Amino acid sequence: MERTWIGLIKFWKHHTSISKREIQVMEELTPGGVNSPVRAFKSVGGQPIIMDSVMGCRMRDIDGNEYIDYVGSWGPAIIGHADDESRQNPFLPVSASKLTMSVLAALAETMKKGTSFGAPCLLENVLAEMVISAVPSIEMVRFVNSGTEACMGEVAALILEPVVGNSGFIAPKPDFLNALHNITKENDAFLIFDKVMTGFRLSYGGAQEYFSITPDLTTIAKIIGGGFPVGAYGGRREIMEMVAPAGPMYQAGTLGGNPLAMTAGIQTLKRLKEPGSYDNLNKITSELILGILDAGKKAGHAIRGGYVSGMFGFFFNEVPVYNFGDAKKSDTSKFASFYRGMLEEGVYFAPSQFEAGFTSLTHTFEDIQQTIAAAEKVFRQL
Ligand SMILES: Cc1ncc(COP(=O)(O)O)c(C=O)c1O
Repeated sequence: MERTWIGLIKFWKHHTSISKREIQVMEELTPGGVNSPVRAFKSVGGQPIIMDSVMGCRMRDIDGNEYIDYVGSWGPAIIGHADDESRQNPFLPVSASKLTMSVLAALAETMKKGTSFGAPCLLENVLAEMVISAVPSIEMVRFVNSGTEACMGEVAALILEPVVGNSGFIAPKPDFLNALHNITKENDAFLIFDKVMTGFRLSYGGAQEYFSITPDLTTIAKIIGGGFPVGAYGGRREIMEMVAPAGPMYQAGTLGGNPLAMTAGIQTLKRLKEPGSYDNLNKITSELILGILDAGKKAGHAIRGGYVSGMFGFFFNEVPVYNFGDAKKSDTSKFASFYRGMLEEGVYFAPSQFEAGFTSLTHTFEDIQQTIAAAEKVFRQL
């Protein structure tokens, strides 16, 4: 009897019929019903949830369900969604977090001047200076509109994510990046760090500060646009001066460096630069992942995982995961059941075993405890 009631309450709590109906409509209008395949639920089953609004570390769907969000728009929402003046960084004294104008307030100011100039705007100088002074290997930078665009280059090079997020979260073994650096130097090839995901997520200077390696070129996106479409590539001056109009490599973009993306990026970086930001991300993320791993093991599951700063991941796997081959040995059907269970408990992870998770400055220890309690419950049911 009790079970039936719990079932009913659960169903009522996590009712997604409007989402289901609207996704079916969208399936007729765009391939697979989504405008980016990572939003599909192919590997976890069921249909994607359509979101209505996001704020801080919470998302609300169009049926009215609320979720703690560990996707963070796939990375950009590192200071929380829809950052506004009324919410303070919970880890900083009020006086400190007021130093920085909120993203929404700054956007409102910028928007009064227009949404796109198609001509230079001063905000490009501000963000370019911030990126160049934060990332040791970048002497010049070019803003584009997405990480994909930033990574498109026609040069003899080795390009990789210094910390992998796109096979699930995989931190490099000691010396792996150094060995690659040496190989590219010996072969006169460029080493390119694709830091679209890790840029400004692992530390203010990104992975190269974290691992003390200087690549020839770096691509960044996500966080430097604070939730707006953005990308950037940069590196040594002699290389960047090959780019048009300074040099012969033609690359252009209608919306490159547009004022809204620049504004959201500038305010996000200012907030991240405040003292304690990365320590807080580190504390929150370690509490989360250690809690999940502990809960999984106590419930008898083979589970592996790790984190660096505001990025984490876990695999249902018997062996430690060092590469995609190891990751592929994971029990993806168990992940799918876990995923659906967590969704019903109001926790939104990336809908694939092979994606990383992200925390933000707005996740509190209460959010983390709530997530771990949900995980304990779901692990017991698997
Ligand atoms: C490492 C990496 N590179 C490139 C991209 C593509 O970036 P965008 O989605 O902004 O085009 C992504 C997207 O998640 C990424 O994680």
